[in-house]
Amino acid sequence: MADRVAFVGPKGIPDYVPPQSAEFVTVRDGLTHAARLAGYSHIELPVVEDTRLFARGVGESTDVVSKEMYTFTDHGDRTLTLRPEGTAGVMRAVIEHGLDRGPLPVKLSYAGPFFRYERPQAGRYRQLQQVGLEAIGVDDPALDAEVIAVADAGFRALGLEDFRLEVTSLGDDTCRPHYRELLQDYLFTLPLDDQTRRRAEINPLRVLDDKRPEVREMTTGAPLMLDHLSPTAQAHFDKVLDHLGALGVPYVINARMVRGLDYYTKTTFEFVHDGLGAQSGIGGGGRYDGLMAQLGGQPLSGIGFGLGVDRTILALAAEGKTTNSAPRCDVFAVPLGDDAKATLVVIAQQLRAHGIRVDLAYGTRTAKSALKAADRSGAALALVLGDRDLANGTLEVKTLATGNQQTVAIHDSATHIRTALAVPAN
Ligand code: HAM
Repeated sequence: MADRVAFVGPKGIPDYVPPQSAEFVTVRDGLTHAARLAGYSHIELPVVEDTRLFARGVGESTDVVSKEMYTFTDHGDRTLTLRPEGTAGVMRAVIEHGLDRGPLPVKLSYAGPFFRYERPQAGRYRQLQQVGLEAIGVDDPALDAEVIAVADAGFRALGLEDFRLEVTSLGDDTCRPHYRELLQDYLFTLPLDDQTRRRAEINPLRVLDDKRPEVREMTTGAPLMLDHLSPTAQAHFDKVLDHLGALGVPYVINARMVRGLDYYTKTTFEFVHDGLGAQSGIGGGGRYDGLMAQLGGQPLSGIGFGLGVDRTILALAAEGKTTNSAPRCDVFAVPLGDDAKATLVVIAQQLRAHGIRVDLAYGTRTAKSALKAADRSGAALALVLGDRDLANGTLEVKTLATGNQQTVAIHDSATHIRTALAVPAN
C-alpha cells in the first residue's frame, strides 16, 4: 500500500475508515450516551491550551507533562500545547465561564482527540480518543459511585464483559502529606539507583508504579496509602464501596494503583481489560479535590473519568465482538437514463426529508453495475427507474434481500417506501 501513496498518516496515529469507522462512532456515542443518561451536558473545548495550564494542572513531574506534550509557539509567541488530557481544560472553562457560580454539581461530558508523544505500540497512540466526564462542586461518595457506574454501564451497553474495575483511595490533604513522608522514609532505606531515588524525592508514589521486577520486589513491603487514610477519607471510601455494592458494580481494590496524572485525591479507579496486552487500561479517573483551586478557581471538589475509545474498540475485538455492521443506507436508487436520474434525485431528497437514508448510482453505469452497487450498499430497497417507467409514471421497488419487485406509482412512492421500511409518517 505504502508504495502507492505519496503520504502516510503521522506515526502512531490511527485512521478510522469505513466500514470500521462505524464502530468508532458506535463506541464513542455509546459511551457518551451513558453519560447523558446521568444528566451530563456536552462541553466542546479547544484541542490547544496554554501550556502552563497542563504544567500546573497535571503536574510538572508527570511523564505526560515532562515528556509527552506536543508544545509549540504560535505566531504571536504564545506557548501552546495540544491537550494531553481533558480535565484541566474543563476546569479552565468552568472557571472562565463562571459555571462554578451556578447550581452544583456542574456535570459535563466531552469526546474527542488528545495528544501524547508516547512510544507507539498496540493500543498506545499519539492521538488518542476519549469520552470523558467531570462532576464538579459536590463532595459526595454517591457521586463518585455514579461516575464509576456510568463508565461500567457504558462499557457493558457496548457488549464488553471481560474487564475489571480497580479502585483505591489516594487520601486527602490531611493524610496524603503524612503518607508521602512515610513512604519516602521507607524508600530511602532501599538501595535505589540515582534516578529512582530522585523520583522518590519528587513523587514517591510513582516509585510504586515502577515496572522493573527488581524495583517491584524491593517495594513489596512499602507502606500503602489505604492503611493510612484519615478518618474522613476512610469514611468517604467506605461509602463509595457501599454504593458500588448496592449498584451491583463489581470491583477489586488495588492499593498499589498509581495514576499518571498528579491531581488525584481520594477515590481513584481504573478499568482494566486483560485481552489488550501491556496497554490494558480502557478507562480511568478519580477525584481531584484540589485542582480547581490550584488553577485559580474556587476551592471546589471534582470527580471524573476518561474512557479510551480506541482501546474499547480493541477490547471488543479481543472479545470477538463487533458492535456495528449497520448498512449505510436504507434505499438505493438506480436510474436507467438521464431523465430517470433527474426524477430519482428529487425522490431521494424527498425520502431523506422523511428520515430515510438514500443513496443513488451517480455517473454513467450499466443497470447491472448499478444494481451491484445497490447490493453492496446494504440497502433494503432499490428503486429502479427507466424511460418506459417514467412514461407510465411508475417506479420499480425491489426488495434486495428477496429479489421481489413491485411496480408503484411515482406520486405514491414515498408512502409505499415508508410502509415497506416501517418508517412512520411525519
Ligand atoms: P488517563 O488514565 O490518562 O486519564 O486516560 C484515560 C484513558 O485514555 C486510559 O484509560 C486509556 O484508555 C486512554 N488512553 C490514554 N493514553 C492513551 C494512548 N496513548 N493511546 C490510547 N489510549 C490512551 C485521563 O486522561 C484523565 N483526564 C481522566 C479523568 C477525567 N480523570 C478525572 N477526570
